[in-house]
Amino acid sequence: MKTVNFNSIDRVLSYSKFQNYKELTLPEVCFAGRSNVGKSSLINAILNRKGIAKTSKKPGQTKTILFYRVDKIFSLVDVPGYGYASVSKKKITEISSLLYNYFKFSKNLKNVYVLIDSRHGIKKSDLQFLSFLKENKLNYNYIFTKSDKATQKIRKEYVDNLCKEELAIASQIIFISSKTKEGIKKLKGNILKVVSDYGKNP
Ligand code: GTP
Ligand code: MG
Repeated sequence: MKTVNFNSIDRVLSYSKFQNYKELTLPEVCFAGRSNVGKSSLINAILNRKGIAKTSKKPGQTKTILFYRVDKIFSLVDVPGYGYASVSKKKITEISSLLYNYFKFSKNLKNVYVLIDSRHGIKKSDLQFLSFLKENKLNYNYIFTKSDKATQKIRKEYVDNLCKEELAIASQIIFISSKTKEGIKKLKGNILKVVSDYGKNP
C-alpha cells in the first residue's frame, strides 16, 4: 500500500439514516462506544485536526453517522454513542436504528474499535454491544480512552480481566489518549493493516 497521508481529508459525509449509499465504496473502520467516551476526540487526534469532528463535555454530541475519507483510501467512521438516555424516546429510537442498520448491513466495515473510558471500565451496555458484534461476526478491538487518567494498576486490571474472560488478547488492547497522544501511532498502524488486508479475503 502507498504511504497514507492521514491529514488529507477530502470528503466528510454525514447521514442520519444508514443504507449502503452508492458513494460509500472504500473500506471503513468505525469508532464505537458509550456517549462521551472520546470517539470524536480520537478521530481528531488520528487526523491531527483540532475540530474536524465536533466534541463536547456533554454526552450526546454526535447525532449522525460521519464518514471521514482519508487520502481517498479508506474512511474513519464516527457514530453516536450508545447507552445515553437523557434525550427524547424518539431520538433514542432513531439513534438505535441508525447504529443497528450500520453495524448489521454495512458492506465496507472492516473493523470496529470498541472504546471504553479508562475512568469507568466496561459497562453492561458495552457487553451487550460486544455480543451484538460477535453475533454479526464483526471484527473488533478494544481501546481504552483517556489513558492520561489511567494508573498502571487499573490498566493491568482491565487487561487481565479481558484476557481472563477470553474477550481479548493483551497485545491487541490499546490505551489511547487524545490529550497526550499515547497510542495514536500504534492505532494508525493497526488501521493501515486492517484496511490494506481489504479485498484479500473476499
Ligand atoms: P458523543 O459524541 O457524545 O457520543 O461523545 P464522544 O464519545 O464523541 O466524546 P468526545 O470526543 O466528544 O469527548 C467527550 C469528552 O471527553 C470531552 O470533554 C473531551 O475533551 C474528553 N476527552 C476525550 N478524549 C480525552 C482524552 O484522551 N483524555 C481526557 N482527559 N479527556 C478526553
Ligand atoms: Mg462524538
